[in-house]
Amino acid sequence: MTGASFQYRLPARLLHWGMALLVLATIPAGFVMIQDGIGRPLQNALFLFHKNVGVLLLLLVLIRAAYRLRHPPAPLPANIPGWQRMAASLSHVALYALLILMPIAGYIRVKAGGFPIESLDALGLPPLVPRSDPLAETAKTLHYYGGIAIAALLAVHIGAAAQHGLLRRDGVFSRMWPPFGARTR
Ligand code: HEM
Repeated sequence: MTGASFQYRLPARLLHWGMALLVLATIPAGFVMIQDGIGRPLQNALFLFHKNVGVLLLLLVLIRAAYRLRHPPAPLPANIPGWQRMAASLSHVALYALLILMPIAGYIRVKAGGFPIESLDALGLPPLVPRSDPLAETAKTLHYYGGIAIAALLAVHIGAAAQHGLLRRDGVFSRMWPPFGARTR
C-alpha cells in the first residue's frame, strides 16, 4: 500500500509543514531567550521572533482547525490497531489544544506584564487584558508548563511519524508527505 489515496489535502499538508517549521523554531527560542548570559542583542532578537511568530501561529492553528472541520482526513489504513488510532487522535487533539493555549498564555503574560507585542501594536490592537502582575505570573506559569508539555508531545509525535515513515513504511507518513505536490483525494 502506498498510502497515496489516504493523503491529506494540499492546504492541510502546507499548513502542517509550515507550522511544524515555525513551532520547532519557536520552542527552542522560548527556552533560550530566558537564559542569563546570552547577551542583550540575541535575547531581544529571540523575544521579537518568539512573540510575533507565536501570534502568527495562533492565526494559523485557527485556520487549520477550521479547515480540518470542513475537510476531515481520510480514515487510517485498516491494519492500524485500535489503540494506535486512539493514541493518534488523543495526541492530535492535545496538540491543537496546546497550539491554541500557548499563544494565548504568552499573549496574556506579555500584555498583563506591560510589554510590547510589536506586530499587534503596529496594527493598533489595544491590549485585551488589563495590566496585572498576578495575571502575568499565572499566565507565565501556564506558558512554562505548556511549553514542556508541547515539547514532550512533539517528541512523541515525531517519533511515531519516523517509525511509520522509516521502519514500518505502512503509508501513514505519506498521508502528510510531501508538503506540496499533486493532491490525490
Ligand atoms: C505556539 C506558540 C508558542 C509556543 C510553542 C511557545 C513556547 C514557549 C516556550 C517553550 C517557552 C520557554 C518556557 C517558558 O519559560 O515559558 C516560552 C517562553 C516565553 N514565551 Fe512563548 N510560546 C508560544 C507563543 C508565545 C506568544 C504568542 C508569546 C507572546 C506574545 C509568547 C511569549 C513568551 C514569553 C514572554 C516567554 C518567556 C517567559 C518568561 O517570562 O519567563 N510565547 N514560550
